[in-house]
Amino acid sequence: MNPADLTAQVETLVRDTLAGEGSGHDWWHIARVRACALRLCREEGGDPLVVELTALLHDIADWKFHHGDLEAGPRRSAEVLAQLGAPPELASAVVENVRRISFKGARVPDAADMTLEGQIVQDADRLDAIGAVGIARAFAYGGSAGRLLHDPGYTPLLAETPQAYRASGAPTIAHFYEKLLLLKERMHTSAARRLAEGRHAYMEQFLARFYAEWDGEA
Ligand code: ADP
Ligand code: NI
Repeated sequence: MNPADLTAQVETLVRDTLAGEGSGHDWWHIARVRACALRLCREEGGDPLVVELTALLHDIADWKFHHGDLEAGPRRSAEVLAQLGAPPELASAVVENVRRISFKGARVPDAADMTLEGQIVQDADRLDAIGAVGIARAFAYGGSAGRLLHDPGYTPLLAETPQAYRASGAPTIAHFYEKLLLLKERMHTSAARRLAEGRHAYMEQFLARFYAEWDGEA
């Protein structure tokens, strides 16, 4: 199968699987991550086919929604790629990237053995979690999970394990401290670091304004 047919078929399958997902992992998250990752790839190098397939499959079965099973995503990605007849070497490169992408806690280090393509998709996924879109996604997630907007008495959890991170019932403002404000320092590529600066500054402005309004001072 030629690469364009393979990506088109993976895209169709991912669209069908994630259509209507309401927790911030809907198809448009995947579409934004793909576009951003391909842009980073043009600047940083790497194999665009591996980047595109990894971006398309990175949230196909999120561990947080599969009883904390960290293998759910890689397993499902491998099934999809095998079913569509992807060459084994390509499939395994994509699956190994998918296994390493997701954020697993403030104090859980990222995998040290990530490929350039994996780093690019992780950067793109994290860019989509910050800035204006990231703020919107965080409140969409908080709403879908029944979280408070903000609780001044809640202390953010700097999780040491994926399980602790998954168990956190953080109000959405606290999630900024548990994840979103940490992402700028965890970008791999210089292209992503540059984009993260503006998005990070925007979140800081948002938080300053949010607290001022919360206290009735603005
Ligand atoms: P991804 O898999 O794309 O790295 P996540 O699965 O961690 O991202 O989260 C999906 C979206 O929901 C992200 O924008 C993330 O910041 C947001 N999110 C995750 N956990 C929380 C939370 N406790 N409160 C608010 N938003 C959250
Ligand atoms: Ni994602």
